[in-house]
Amino acid sequence: MGHGIAHVMLRAGLSVLLTDASAKFLEAGAARIAKGLARDVEKERLTEEARQQAITRLKTTAKLADLAACDIVIEAVTENYDAKAAVWRALDPVCRPEIIFASNTSSISITRLAAATLRPAQFVGMHFFNPVPVMQLVEVVPGLQTAPATVEATMQLATAVGKTPVRVNDAPGFVANRVLLPMINEAVFCLREGVADAKGIDDVMKLGMNHPMGPLELADLIGLDVCLDILKVLYESLREPKYRPCPLLEKMVNAGWLGRKTGRGFYEYPPGKAS
Ligand code: 3HC
Repeated sequence: MGHGIAHVMLRAGLSVLLTDASAKFLEAGAARIAKGLARDVEKERLTEEARQQAITRLKTTAKLADLAACDIVIEAVTENYDAKAAVWRALDPVCRPEIIFASNTSSISITRLAAATLRPAQFVGMHFFNPVPVMQLVEVVPGLQTAPATVEATMQLATAVGKTPVRVNDAPGFVANRVLLPMINEAVFCLREGVADAKGIDDVMKLGMNHPMGPLELADLIGLDVCLDILKVLYESLREPKYRPCPLLEKMVNAGWLGRKTGRGFYEYPPGKAS
């Protein structure tokens, strides 16, 4: 998600300082952004001159301290409260107190993440969708303590980079994943029970419901680990059995079959087509 968000910001004329805990992922992220911008030129969404300028506005760093220069921070750390909160706690003393912290969480409480920082009024959810350069929506999620000015500035930023923001209240899974993940989970139960094979389940939803992708293909795109994390948040926070993650999904995650990013999920992806 991080490289997709950076791509969208650069394409809209903003400067981006990209960081990651892993040097390998940082390098891979920058390479994918460069590839995406080149594709934008090919498809005439960007001029060659604008691409070159965008590339020069992209910087990477391994040091969180370098983020002192930023006017907003958008975090896309793995979908785990402790991991996200640790990054925000480290950034708090580094970044100017007035700047906005935006979390691209899929389901974790914005109110709870905000409370881990010294700036809950400037903390907001900014939930992008995969593939970020293509999908129109950004869910903008205020926590209990988020100031209206923070929400307004975040809505404006999303609009300025070509997205359509929708304001959604802070509740587990917000709207998108509260509705989407039970569908994906049910598709996995169907597969487990042999109602149809993976292709059959996906074909039903594509041909019968006009979904652009079937739920199992989509789970592979999102990442099965991410799907499981979101379902766990829904199940544990809403305490209703209907959100119980399908054991087959848990088993696949335990096997390391995480979808496109590992080359195997409900489908297999040959190298080069993996992400
Ligand atoms: N990464 C980046 N770009 C991608 C991509 C990917 N994984 N997959 C496709 N694209 C781009 C293609 O390059 C193409 O762009 P182009 O204009 O440069 O050619 C464009 O998307 C359209 O792709 P295709 O023509 O190959 O294929 P489709 O028309 O079938 O569209 C799709 C692909 C946009 C992925 C479409 O199948 C779709 O909309 N699928 C549903 C996606 C969805 O529901 N996303 C939300 C997931 S939920 C989420 O992210 C929330 C999180 O919290 C879990």
